[in-house]
Amino acid sequence: MNLLYKKSFLPALAVALLAASCAGSGPEKTPEQNTAGNSQPTTLKEAFKDDFYIGAALNAGQVMGRDEKAAELVKEQFNTISPENVLKWGPINPRPGVYNFEPADAYVEFGEKNNMFTVGHTLVWHSQAPDWIFEGANGQPASRDTLLQRMENHIKTIAGRYEGRIDGWDVVNEALEDDGSMRKSKWLTLAGEDFIEKAFQYARVADPEAELYYNDYSLWKPEKRDGAVRLVKGLLDKGIKVDGIGMQGHYGIDYPTIDQIEASIEAFAALGVKVMVTELDIDLLPNPTGRQGADIVHTVEAREGFNPYAEGLPDSVQQKLSKRYADIFALFHKHRDKISRVTFWGVADHHSWLNNWPMPGRTSYPMVFDRNYQPKPAFEAIVEAASK
Ligand code: XIL
Repeated sequence: MNLLYKKSFLPALAVALLAASCAGSGPEKTPEQNTAGNSQPTTLKEAFKDDFYIGAALNAGQVMGRDEKAAELVKEQFNTISPENVLKWGPINPRPGVYNFEPADAYVEFGEKNNMFTVGHTLVWHSQAPDWIFEGANGQPASRDTLLQRMENHIKTIAGRYEGRIDGWDVVNEALEDDGSMRKSKWLTLAGEDFIEKAFQYARVADPEAELYYNDYSLWKPEKRDGAVRLVKGLLDKGIKVDGIGMQGHYGIDYPTIDQIEASIEAFAALGVKVMVTELDIDLLPNPTGRQGADIVHTVEAREGFNPYAEGLPDSVQQKLSKRYADIFALFHKHRDKISRVTFWGVADHHSWLNNWPMPGRTSYPMVFDRNYQPKPAFEAIVEAASK
C-alpha cells in the first residue's frame, strides 16, 4: 500500500470524533472529511483498504442505540463487524422454544445499513451453550441423535433466519484442546467426532452463500496449529467446504512470538483457505491463573497486585502496547495476500471483556481506542504499519 502517513492527522481525527459524538448519528463521513483536507488515511478501514477487512466485535448496546459514540466510531473506522454475544446459542435461545432475536436482528441491520462485512459468531460451541441442549429424558444425557437434531434445528433457525445477510459464520468454535486433540466437550462425548462435519453441512444448507469458518484460540501453539490443520484438512478431504480459519488473537504483550503467529498464517493458507484474525486484543494485565485458583480471584487479597493500572496507564506501558501492535500489524500487512480480515474483540478499552476476564472488575487497556473513544498511540502505530 503506498499511502503516505502524516503525524498530523491524530488531532484532526480527535476533532472529527468529537464532532461525531456531538452531532449524534450524522451521515457517514468520508476519510477526506476526517483529514481536514489532506489525503492521509485517518481511519483503519482506509489504511488497510487494499489489504483486508478490518473490524470490531459489537455488544448489544452498541447495535441497539445505547452507545452512540461507539456506533459512530465503528462506522467511521471499520468495514466489518462481529457480534460479541448476541448470536451465541445461550443469549439467542436460552430455553427450548424461547428466542431472543431482537439484539441479533439489530446487529444484522447495523451491518447491512452500514454496508459492512457482517460475521456470525457462533453456531456450535461448548461455552455459552445452555445445559438443556445436552439433556435427554429423565436427567439422562441427550442421545447422539437428539443432540444432532438440536444442532441441525439450531443452525437452520439461526443461519436460516439471516440467510444472505450474514457474510461469514464461525460454524464451530474452539473444538480443539491446546495439545491439538479434540476438546472433550459434550459435543464430542455425546455426538461423536463427526459433529463438526455435520455442523458445516447443516450450515451450508441453511445459507449456501455464506462463508463458513473454523475458529479457535492459541492457534499459534505448534500442537494446536497442527491439530487445526488436521481437522480442516480432514473436512476438505471429505469434500466439506471450509472457507476459512479464524485465529482468535487474544495475545499478550510478550507472547506469542511474531514467528509463531506467522507459522500459523502460513500453515493455514497452505490449505487453500482464508486466514482471519477474528478476536484481536492485547492483554497488559498480569495473569492471575498461574498463581491462584480461579475460585478465589473475587477476594480482595487475591486481587492485590493484579489491577496495576486502575488509575491510568503509565506512558512506558502505552509505548510497549504501541510497539506490540505495530509488530503484529507489520506481520499482518506482510501476509495481506493470505489474510482476509482482522477484527478487534471490542471497540474501546472499557468495552473489552478483558476488564472482567479472567478476573472481574479490573481496568484493562487492550484496544486501540481509549475510554474516551479517542485513538491511542497504538492506533497511529497500526496505521503506520499499513504504509510500509
Ligand atoms: C466472550 C465475550 O467477549 C464476553 O462478553 C462473554 O462473557 C464471554 O465470551 N472466545 C470467543 C468469544 O470465541 O466468543 C469470547 O467472547 C471470548 C473468547
